[in-house]
Amino acid sequence: MKFLKLNNGSNMPIVGLGLSVFPEDPKTVETSVELALPIGYRMFDTASLYKTEEHLGVTLKANLLKNPNIKRKDLFIVTKLPQIGMRPDLVDRFVTKSLKDLQLDYIDLYLIHWPIGMEFRGENDLFPMLDVTTKECAYDFKTDLEGIWKALEAQVKAGRVKSIGLSNVNETQIERIVKIAEILPANNQIELHAYIQQPKLRKLCEKYDISITAYYPIGGRNRLQYPEEWQKLAPPVPPLLDDPVVTAISKKHDKTPAQVLLRFLTQLNVAVIPKSSNANRLKENFNILNFTLDSDDMDKLRGLDQGESARTCFGMPGCDKHPEYPFPIAGSK
Ligand SMILES: NC(=O)c1ccc[n+]([C@@H]2O[C@H](COP(=O)([O-])OP(=O)(O)OC[C@H]3O[C@@H](n4cnc5c(N)ncnc54)[C@H](OP(=O)(O)O)[C@@H]3O)[C@@H](O)[C@H]2O)c1
Repeated sequence: MKFLKLNNGSNMPIVGLGLSVFPEDPKTVETSVELALPIGYRMFDTASLYKTEEHLGVTLKANLLKNPNIKRKDLFIVTKLPQIGMRPDLVDRFVTKSLKDLQLDYIDLYLIHWPIGMEFRGENDLFPMLDVTTKECAYDFKTDLEGIWKALEAQVKAGRVKSIGLSNVNETQIERIVKIAEILPANNQIELHAYIQQPKLRKLCEKYDISITAYYPIGGRNRLQYPEEWQKLAPPVPPLLDDPVVTAISKKHDKTPAQVLLRFLTQLNVAVIPKSSNANRLKENFNILNFTLDSDDMDKLRGLDQGESARTCFGMPGCDKHPEYPFPIAGSK
């Protein structure tokens, strides 16, 4: 396994397993993690929002007990503050819940999942609704991003979290956090794949030595599978795995299109967290460090960037009204 050295000295595996399994049953995570551990996966990316923390926790605990080769110190567990927890006074409560659900005494990396807060109506009401017909969520328009960062720093100082980071933020939000941070963000998790390469954001992260994790590294689920109200936010993007440039490079190296896309990102020094519940694809996605894309392949893959028009993850309906909404208007380049 190759590791990314984080700006606080920790090592983060460059390949991990994504545990957002929606619309599958969150319990499927138990099987995927059981299959993934012997393959060599040690980084697992979950979140309160995915409702998979508990299932990851149960499976890790059982494997740590039965397999002496798997040590807690070799695992790298990533989880995230939900939008309903986006208040400085709620951070401790949600870290406590994640630790309990994961059955761990520390979290390796804890991220702000979205910079957009939602009303807190109870720990289990993860998407409080304003309007059940439009599925518009009840947002908290007073989200205090800097105050939340300070509350996360307190979690590091208390030893409950080793590293803290961001997700779904823009350049201005990163600059704001860096300006007030005593502990710099160690990681930024963003939608990143060959169709949306985010060069400006990546450059800014490089400036502050903030590592990047790519979500949807193989293109994510085709937007056509999304609920209708999400699809209205932007037109569907064709599946990246079928792109002729990707399939030609995959034939050249005798690798699959997914392996080419994951190798592309890791050669850019970006960590990847593809999700799979399938034994063969779990192996395929992990075995990507034993070949090298040459400069011609890298140039061709760089050339696939479609900018903002390829973004597929915009947040929940109505979130663009929030003052912290991070993205340019859907569809703009
Ligand atoms: N921070 C955020 O806001 C955010 C947002 C979205 C996602 N994430 C994280 O990123 C992870 C990855 O995103 P994702 O799970 O939606 O998308 P993804 O990893 O890009 O794609 C997952 C889909 O691709 C299929 N797949 C996996 N490996 C494949 C392969 N080798 N060939 C062909 N198809 C393959 C999977 O099906 P099978 O299971 O059947 O293999 C699944 O349908 C999530 O699990 C989550 O941890 C974070």
